[in-house]
Amino acid sequence: MARTLLEIKDLSTGFITEGGIVKAVDGVSLTVETGQTVCVVGESGSGKSVTSLTVMRLSEYDGGQILGGEVWFQGENLLTKSQKEMRRIRGKRISMIFQEPMNALNPVFTVGDQIAEVVRMHERVTRDAAWARAVEMLRLVGIPEPVLRARQYPHELSGGMCQRVVIAMALVCHPELVIADEPTTALDVTVQAQILDLLRDLQQKFGTAIMLITHDMGVAAEMADRIAVMYAGIIVEEGTVEQIFERPHHPYTIGLLKSIPGFEGERGTELYTIRGNIPNLARLPSGCRFHPRCPFATDRCRQESPPLRKLDEGRKVACWYAEDVAAGRVTGAVTGMDVESTEAVPAELSPGDGQTAVRGAAK
Ligand SMILES: Nc1ncnc2c1ncn2[C@@H]1O[C@H](COP(=O)(O)OP(=O)(O)OP(=O)(O)O)[C@@H](O)[C@H]1O
Ligand SMILES: [Mg+2]
Repeated sequence: MARTLLEIKDLSTGFITEGGIVKAVDGVSLTVETGQTVCVVGESGSGKSVTSLTVMRLSEYDGGQILGGEVWFQGENLLTKSQKEMRRIRGKRISMIFQEPMNALNPVFTVGDQIAEVVRMHERVTRDAAWARAVEMLRLVGIPEPVLRARQYPHELSGGMCQRVVIAMALVCHPELVIADEPTTALDVTVQAQILDLLRDLQQKFGTAIMLITHDMGVAAEMADRIAVMYAGIIVEEGTVEQIFERPHHPYTIGLLKSIPGFEGERGTELYTIRGNIPNLARLPSGCRFHPRCPFATDRCRQESPPLRKLDEGRKVACWYAEDVAAGRVTGAVTGMDVESTEAVPAELSPGDGQTAVRGAAK
């Protein structure tokens, strides 16, 4: 029986920047059930990483300030824990997998030692037993000749192999939740697919829940049970993978889907991109924060911020016109995203006006 494993409630995390306080995460609520995969998608700078780092209480090390909210994990609010308590949780009950495997591994220790060290940090076992667990885990993540490989250093392994080692480290203590932040982005396409397959296999084997962060809707389609779409620090739409892909209700979600190669379009046609850029978080637009890029925006959107509201079975959307957008009842409707629309990108938001200052916005 699925039950709630992680419940993020109204979470806000800010950074003090030259331009003022920036709320990278602005009232995010999200639930992950046991064994489930929840994908968090959105363009670069939408707050996906800061959300996950705050759950792990790591954003504080990066200057992040938790401004409010709760993060319930198995009946405990992680935001009230000390860092010492968090160290006992991280790696043991919740693990993280990052984009760049080389940064997650220590170049001066063998990969076997690094996995064994995780075991010894969290469990009372002998050195030999920890080493045996490391080798077994390397075998489980599909590394050939694990006994030999365990004695090698990260630089002796390919990028894909290193990411398998990182996954081995993340799973060796059988955590209930793994947070994977773009775990395949740094790898080439064939290796990406293998790593995703591996994550799915291990999830089945261990019953691990996964919070998977990706800007790739294709990855989300393949992996997710549920999808949360983030835009400029908030969730704008959330639902099951079927709800999101079959009948997206937020214009931003529609834009993301239309930018997938081969999705709802003939191959070879030019790829759709959402006009404009994610706004500078220190100078958010009035009303709906997506309105300057939205082809359907009205005066109401420019003035009032739409709350994230519940629609049909489990779907939530933050758009005043979600039902009309989904039903194609707004001007131009879905295909309208393609047409020249004077409302879509007001002149003041065209690229190159400083709005692109958001880190990595051009990804
Ligand atoms: N240490 C920091 N100091 C100041 N601002 C930060 C810091 N870390 C993140 N931010 C800001 O928070 C916002 C969200 O960043 P975040 O890294 O969560 O985006 P993301 O959705 O993970 O993007 P990407 O797809 O590029 O990884 C960005 O505007 C970013 O500039
Ligand atoms: Mg990120």
